[in-house]
Formats: sequence, structure tokens, C-alpha cells
Amino acid sequence: MSLKLAMVGYGTIAPHYVNAILNNRNYELVAVCDTDPAKRTSVEKTGAKYFNNIDGLLQDGKIDAIIVATPNYLHAKQTIAALRAGKHVLCEKPMATSLEDTQGMVNAATSAGKALMVSYHDRFHSRVLELQQRGLEIVGFEADNREHILDHCDLSKAWYLNKEYSGGGVVYDNGSLVIDILLQFIPDLKFKKGTLYKDSYGVEIRADLEFEQGTIHLDWNADTEVKKTTLIEKGSKIHLINLLSSEGDTSGKYLKHEYENLLAAFLQEVKSPKGYGKRGLKIQEMLEEIYAHSKIV
Ligand SMILES: NC(=O)c1ccc[n+]([C@@H]2O[C@H](COP(=O)([O-])OP(=O)(O)OC[C@H]3O[C@@H](n4cnc5c(N)ncnc54)[C@H](O)[C@@H]3O)[C@@H](O)[C@H]2O)c1
Repeated sequence: MSLKLAMVGYGTIAPHYVNAILNNRNYELVAVCDTDPAKRTSVEKTGAKYFNNIDGLLQDGKIDAIIVATPNYLHAKQTIAALRAGKHVLCEKPMATSLEDTQGMVNAATSAGKALMVSYHDRFHSRVLELQQRGLEIVGFEADNREHILDHCDLSKAWYLNKEYSGGGVVYDNGSLVIDILLQFIPDLKFKKGTLYKDSYGVEIRADLEFEQGTIHLDWNADTEVKKTTLIEKGSKIHLINLLSSEGDTSGKYLKHEYENLLAAFLQEVKSPKGYGKRGLKIQEMLEEIYAHSKIV
């Protein structure tokens, strides 16, 4: 029998979930909630029932699991409500906007005994999975992650650029994804110091982060998109992860297979919950450490 899914938030990232759900017969999209009534028509085209608020959706006893894909400041509240209503949750990244909220989500999942996974999707890139299967001993790295943020969100979606709603800037958004990949290979990843660069609007637009094992360069204001991580294996062998190019999959389409793999992994977590969002908590702790020990220029 398929798992009955609902989505909360039907914005930019939602089509990646919808495509992945349609490609996986273990799932069925039964409902979608978005507070913007203009989303009703596109939601109903998928065959899912439209809700304009989460409360109605959570009362639907047929729904097994919820995907939370709203702006970051809503993740904690909506995830905790869904877990308390007895639903499993797959929550978009970054997990929440504070350590306190993140801890609250982990506590809610643990006491409900329901799956809570955070969609750190780059971990499900085919190249990352392949390198992981090889059981490499990684001792160093260099990560370069650049894009132009306005290619991914227009100015009408100002929440991305407002710390109150997003939790932070480039470190929070792209940095958290890079850290998640690195943790797959270097569990004892240790932050040393960093420099965060703000633009004239006060948006954290660029960052250079130094870890004991390597460096991360992040840029939200770049002309070209680059998403590369070089891993250094013991014995100095180099392994390149280029998220934008693998298996003939170029120019951003990598998200397609990442979200398919992510949904497959979530199914396993639903069958036997064990993570309870603790990986997201670990990343949140590292983000807080970065902000506490970096200089701002
Ligand atoms: N856009 C990307 O490339 C991308 C990639 C990976 C992860 N994410 C993550 O996905 C999440 C959503 O990002 P997005 O880019 O899709 O944002 P978005 O602004 O495009 O979409 C958010 C949607 O949530 C709806 N919404 C707002 N408040 C709501 C509420 N209270 N209840 C229900 N719906 C509500 C909005 O109407 C909108 O349709 C974020 O956490 C983001 O970090 C986005």
C-alpha cells in the first residue's frame, strides 16, 4: 500500500517533490496546503486536495506523512504540529531558524515516535552516494559553492534575504547543504574560524569558512553557478563532487535525481524511524558555532 503524503507550501521547490512522488509508486500525493489561494488550480491539477491552512489538513486522518516546504521560519511550528497529529515529517532545509526550535522538533519526533528527516538533498546526489559506498577515508576538503541568489528567488520572495524569516544568509542556505555533504565523509568535522561578508543591505552574501580539515567558500552574488567539493583521501588521492554535472545531468537538473533518492530514503525512515531529525540538529549546532566565531565585514 502506498504512503499517503501531503505537502505544506507549494512554491519553487514543490515541483521537485511532485515529480519525485509521481516517479515512486510507494507514494501518493493526496493533499497540499498553501496559504496563497492562487495555488489552488495547480494543486488540483495533480489530483491532490487543496487546503488553505494546515489545521484542516492535519485533521485528515488518511494522511500518513507531511512534507514541510514553507519559508524557514515556519518549519518548526508546522513540523511540531504535524508530529503531534501523528504524521511523519520530511522538512525542507535548513531545519529551523534557531537551535531552540530545532531541539523542539527533535523532541516532538522522539516523543511521537514518528520519522523526522530534513531534506538535505545534495547528500542524495549520485556522485555523493557513489563515493560513500566506497568507504573512503577522507582527511581533507575544499568546497566552492557559488550562485546568484536572485536566479533562485525573485525579490517578491524577500523572506530568503531577511534573517528573521530565513535564519541567516548564504551560510544558512547553501552552507548548511555543504556541511551536510561533508559530514557524510568527515564525521568529526571541526570549525575553526570564518569571515562573513555583508552587502550594503545587510544581507550575508559571501563567506569564507575554515575548518580543521579544509575550507568552504560560499557566494550568493556570483556570475556563474559552481557547486564543487573536492575530497582528499588519506594518501592524497583527490575525489571531485561536481553537483552540477553528473551522468549527463547538467544545469540544475541534478535536483531531479536528488529528490527521487531523498524520497526513497524517507520511506525507509518512515518504516523504521531512528534519526528523529538529529542530523539537522547537528548541522544547526554547527551553524550557530560559525555565527558565534566568525568576523563580519
Ligand atoms: N527554491 C530552492 O531552490 C530550494 C532548494 C532547496 C530547498 N529549498 C527550501 O524549501 C523551502 C521553501 O522554499 P521555496 O523556494 O519553495 O519558497 P517559496 O517562497 O517559493 O514557496 C513557499 C510557499 O509556501 C507558502 N506559504 C507561506 N506561508 C505558508 C503557510 N503558513 N502555510 C502554508 N503555505 C505557506 C507560500 O505561499 C509559497 O507558495 C525553504 O525552506 C527553502 O530553503 C528551496
